[in-house]
Amino acid sequence: EKGGFDHFMLKEIYEQPRSIKDCMRGRIYPQEGKVQLGGIKEFAEKLKNIDRIIIVACGTSWHAGLVGEYLIEEYARIPVEVEYASEFRYRNPIITEKDVVIAISQSGETADTMAAIEMAKERGATIFGICNVAGASIPRLTDAGVYTHAGPEIGVASTKAFTAQVTVLTLMAFYMAQQKGTITTSKLIELLTELDHIPEKVELALESNDLIKEVSEKIKDSTNCLFLGRGTGFPVALEGALKLKEISYIHAEGYPAAEMKHGPIALITEEMPVVFIATQNSSYEKVISNIQEVKARKGKVIAIVTAGDTEVKKMADYCIEIPDANEAFLPLLATIPLQLLSYHIAVMRGCNVDQPRNLAKSVTVE
Ligand code: M6R
Repeated sequence: EKGGFDHFMLKEIYEQPRSIKDCMRGRIYPQEGKVQLGGIKEFAEKLKNIDRIIIVACGTSWHAGLVGEYLIEEYARIPVEVEYASEFRYRNPIITEKDVVIAISQSGETADTMAAIEMAKERGATIFGICNVAGASIPRLTDAGVYTHAGPEIGVASTKAFTAQVTVLTLMAFYMAQQKGTITTSKLIELLTELDHIPEKVELALESNDLIKEVSEKIKDSTNCLFLGRGTGFPVALEGALKLKEISYIHAEGYPAAEMKHGPIALITEEMPVVFIATQNSSYEKVISNIQEVKARKGKVIAIVTAGDTEVKKMADYCIEIPDANEAFLPLLATIPLQLLSYHIAVMRGCNVDQPRNLAKSVTVE
């Protein structure tokens, strides 16, 4: 049942080239520069005129939502707010009929996310769902939706469901851009052609497993760990920190790299591993200066870098390479080494990787 892997989590990490492919199947047409999302097709016209998107979710799904915010705003130019379902539902939020709420939930059973949907529905918003479990409660509550098709996720720590959520949000961003005319067909051809090859790049990212194991050995006894990134690297950092907390019980925080100097920098000593998302994209130079700030305080730097990088290698203690890709697809690749890092550290610490203490696969209580 674990397909030869020691844990479901590891099996699910390795399934990602396939699950991302399954998620895109029949939805992207790279040669034509077209995205088709059958589940929300009937709202295609409405999408041309919406004022705002509100994404509601919890935990890892909320991190996927933050990636969605970057991509939808970048490509479809629709303002997006990302809300913790538990906060949103107990406020008195301003919601109108011109709003679209996107609820993201792997299980489709999360109590706070369900309550947020019900409230937004009462106030007239259109509700889309992004779920992994067909026929779960959330897909039944929504007006329309897109399944992630990642297959059953058994490990309590979400891995392949997260990358599938990010894939769906990427498709939604492109779909909305197509509907609104904020993207050219030639640009879509270029992006979709690259997206089509992301599963192979995920495969390549998985090849760093042995190196990641070595790095894990070096930092497994830490009591704290920081994860820093900019742009879409920021939600990736949050997700990396959550994974480490959940399964290894090491205290970890994710921050936007530029926020480090506004507080967390006080924590940096030679005992503190700092994981940077330092790939070659628009924030590369800025991240490099953040790495220098950490090194100046003797922090231990583990950097996720673009294959062939030379700059970061001069500074970081350990570098883990991922294939080069358009910035839009960075989260799908940079997440992989962080999943493996937390997995190996947890195994080395003797933790119950698939069923961490105090956690349940779906949180059906408020
Ligand atoms: O099933 P959902 O996506 O609604 O679950 C939300 C969170 O409970 C979930 O992502 C949680 O944070 C995971 N344990 C993360 O690994």
